[in-house]
Amino acid sequence: MNTKIFIPRELQIEGVNEHVEKWRSPSNIALVKYWGKVGHQIPANPSISFTLKNSYTETEIKFIKKEEASSDIEFELLFEGEKNESFTTKVASYFDNIKVYTPYLKYYRLEISTSNSFPHSSGIASSASGFSALSVCLVAFEEKINPELNSRVAGQKASFLARLGSGSACRSIEGPVMIWGEHDKYRLSANEVAVVPDLKLNPIFEDYQDTILLIDKGVKSVSSTIGHGLMQDHPFAKQRFIQANNHIAEMREILQNGDLKRFGEILESEALTLHSMMMTSMPYYILMKPNTLLAIQAVKEYREKSGSNLYFTLDAGANVHLLYPKSEVKEIMNFIEKELVVYCENQHYICDELGSGAFKLKV
Ligand code: DP6
Repeated sequence: MNTKIFIPRELQIEGVNEHVEKWRSPSNIALVKYWGKVGHQIPANPSISFTLKNSYTETEIKFIKKEEASSDIEFELLFEGEKNESFTTKVASYFDNIKVYTPYLKYYRLEISTSNSFPHSSGIASSASGFSALSVCLVAFEEKINPELNSRVAGQKASFLARLGSGSACRSIEGPVMIWGEHDKYRLSANEVAVVPDLKLNPIFEDYQDTILLIDKGVKSVSSTIGHGLMQDHPFAKQRFIQANNHIAEMREILQNGDLKRFGEILESEALTLHSMMMTSMPYYILMKPNTLLAIQAVKEYREKSGSNLYFTLDAGANVHLLYPKSEVKEIMNFIEKELVVYCENQHYICDELGSGAFKLKV
């Protein structure tokens, strides 16, 4: 992909002295996981995800014109109404990464305020929703001042910028399914941006449910960025990347034919492979907790007993995502309440479902 299209050639900032953008962007859950990078935020294998709806970040940015341009991007950030040092550091490094593509930002001071729909300490990573919300605000502002930026390129650019903040964030811009990373079975798939795959989603998936069991609300011991790095010299990396490519190819058929059994087999295999990669890294680490394993075991037994289409996946943490068709919501909620909440910290879980991506809010 020619990423030069994301560098603005002409900017019309004359008279644009103050502007506010506010957007909501959701989290997403990968069906086939991104784990391992090559170069700068380029995935070692393609990944495919469901965009979520109820787990989201809302971000407002006020752009205030300065007397003089500065070399660094000047901003203040409030997270849930308060200053937050660790987020500020992450956002500063994101701005540093994207400044070639957002030269207009040096003429403005940015007042950013951001909050999540899910509790801060829920063990849910906010980087996907956080960086995608930030990126859509920036691109929406750019649409005002860059006459060449049409809406198709704007959507791609939001995904492109989000990726430079956190890889999985590029898959949160649209929905309900996104693919990121080149794969010859998906037309237009690219390493630099995520796209909506060119397939006709089986109706069974349209209102698919994701109930997230909050097994452990603590901050994880090893960040995803470090985990990706450990794939570099990983003894099983090559085989893992082949497997992910095969799973992505098969997912294309499954998402169209609605084969829920095979869907679940791949989903669970991806989750356990991801954690196996962590456990066989040098140094190794374990993010699952005893209750993660107990919940997984209970799901498997329930499925065998009831013939349900309930399957689990995990991201880089202890929480368990339960994916199932909406038609089974009553029985499965019953099962969760009776047998799974005991494994959740303070009995907490989040009910989510497929969503359509980021959208603008009124200010
Ligand atoms: C396990 O996107 O958080 O959730 O690009 O370093 O920010 P960085 O990593 P990140 O990795 C997420 C990995 C995952 C799988 C996935 O979402 O595909």
